[in-house]
Amino acid sequence: MRKIRSFVRREGRLTNAQRRALQSLLPSFGLETVSTPWNFCKIFGREAPRVLEIGFGNGENLLALAQAHPEQDFIGIEVHRPGVGHLLNRLAAAQVSNVRLACEDAREVLERCVPDCSLDAILLYFPDPWPKKRHHKRRLVQADFVGLLARKLKGGGVFRVATDWPDYAQHIARLMSARPEFMAKPPTDSDPDTVGRSPTRFERRGLHLGHKVSELCYRRR
Ligand SMILES: C[S@@+](CC[C@H](N)C(=O)[O-])C[C@H]1O[C@@H](n2cnc3c(N)ncnc32)[C@H](O)[C@@H]1O
Repeated sequence: MRKIRSFVRREGRLTNAQRRALQSLLPSFGLETVSTPWNFCKIFGREAPRVLEIGFGNGENLLALAQAHPEQDFIGIEVHRPGVGHLLNRLAAAQVSNVRLACEDAREVLERCVPDCSLDAILLYFPDPWPKKRHHKRRLVQADFVGLLARKLKGGGVFRVATDWPDYAQHIARLMSARPEFMAKPPTDSDPDTVGRSPTRFERRGLHLGHKVSELCYRRR
């Protein structure tokens, strides 16, 4: 059976600078996505709180977080190569050492490479909304995906998601409330991703269109 993907790869807009970054910087900032689970202590050379951002787009949020929290380690997963190339250039320019990236389907990478109970927070900002009903099956947040999040978060870890599509927010809230491993939690200023967060590119786009942003936050029991 063909896999249902939550994304469509669009390579057309890869600039020369992004292409060069993918060639020369991915070996330093990239993570191998072969079948062995990642050893984060070895990768970052220390034991520190770990935050994963899925679908980081051009990476502005991930970069801001990593700079605001040098005491934490950040992993970004994004399939859009121009976005990965863009962030690689910015990481190198800012000499940031606490970020690693994987350019692959987050569902597969979570399943194959991220050890169970290894993450303190998982962030998902403005996942592709797939607004047409016949495309809802392509939305990233589905029951099996929520199960994967539950497995990968440590006890007490946080899943934070934002969307400007009300029916997607309701769908996520329904799925999350059906999982006994999670409890809803109001976002607070001391959450790992709050400091330094400014509206993402897609958030700004939604706000410009008059959309209301829903932020949902859950703690792993
Ligand atoms: C609407 S954009 C939001 C980007 C960014 N978070 C923002 O708020 O500006 C959704 C992003 O998720 C990425 N994406 C979709 N499905 C993905 C998957 N399965 N694994 C990794 N990235 C994915 C897309 O390539 C796209 O860049």
